[in-house]
Amino acid sequence: MEFIKVTKAYDKYIALIELNRPKELNALNLQLMGEVRDALKELDQDDEVRVIIITGNERAFAAGADIKQMAGKTTVDMWKTDQFSTWDQINKTRKPIIAAVSGFALGGGCELAMTCDMIVASETAQFGQPEIKIGVMPGAGGTQRLTKALGKAKAMEMVLTGKFISAEEAEKLGLVNRVVPVELYMTEALKLAKEIASMSPLAVQMAKESVKRSFEVPLEEGLHFERKNFYMLFSSEDQKEGMNAFVEKRKADFKGK
Ligand code: CAA
Repeated sequence: MEFIKVTKAYDKYIALIELNRPKELNALNLQLMGEVRDALKELDQDDEVRVIIITGNERAFAAGADIKQMAGKTTVDMWKTDQFSTWDQINKTRKPIIAAVSGFALGGGCELAMTCDMIVASETAQFGQPEIKIGVMPGAGGTQRLTKALGKAKAMEMVLTGKFISAEEAEKLGLVNRVVPVELYMTEALKLAKEIASMSPLAVQMAKESVKRSFEVPLEEGLHFERKNFYMLFSSEDQKEGMNAFVEKRKADFKGK
């Protein structure tokens, strides 16, 4: 991996993907996103890993797709490369993904954060879809995910003006889970990851799948899907362990079985 670092340094249950093109503010070139796709695929198969954190550095989570790599391309080039298809893996990942964001989260960087399941932001984080300023528009989910997160008026303004919003505003608008001082954003993301990692990984993954389904289907169908996942968990050892632990007044030890 040239442009990302993958570690399990903190806890065997938590994997950390660090975007690592600091001089280019973690601009998301094709290779970097290919590496993110491959890492996510592998971590999703790794039985030990329960939660994944994606982060950048203090100055930038990611300043967008790599403009220099795209500048000379034609429609045919873009169609053939289909560079955003590598992003499908993020959406397909079953394990929860937390974006730990500091500094710039712009264009594809904002889209990457929004494709994750939760966002922990440092107070220096800035979110924006500035593609309009370079003659294009968001292409990796910005028009859809931002609108679902913020509603039409705010999303339209951000997409049509390229204006950034601060971490504080992003929290107020419901885009991010929480905002903490810059020196604490990784600690806070890790705390959230640890809390989720202490639950049954099967229940976590099915619950994530059900919440995500609410964005795709009408209520009736979503409720049906949720109910089936709920019933399905009753064939897991974790369900027995969780409920027995409650009855026996002890802490549950979930195995993901
Ligand atoms: N692509 C390629 N290189 C980038 C980049 C990007 N998206 N963003 C920053 N860089 C590079 C700069 O070119 C610069 O490189 P050099 O030192 O070689 O000149 C280096 O990173 C540092 O950047 P700046 O000197 O510009 O730093 P700054 O602090 O003055 O400004 C910034 C920071 C406001 C984020 C500014 O870099 C900027 O506006 N970046 C582009 C943001 C953008 O338009 N993103 C959307 C991209 S398109 C997209 O993402 C499509 C999609 O939907 C997926």
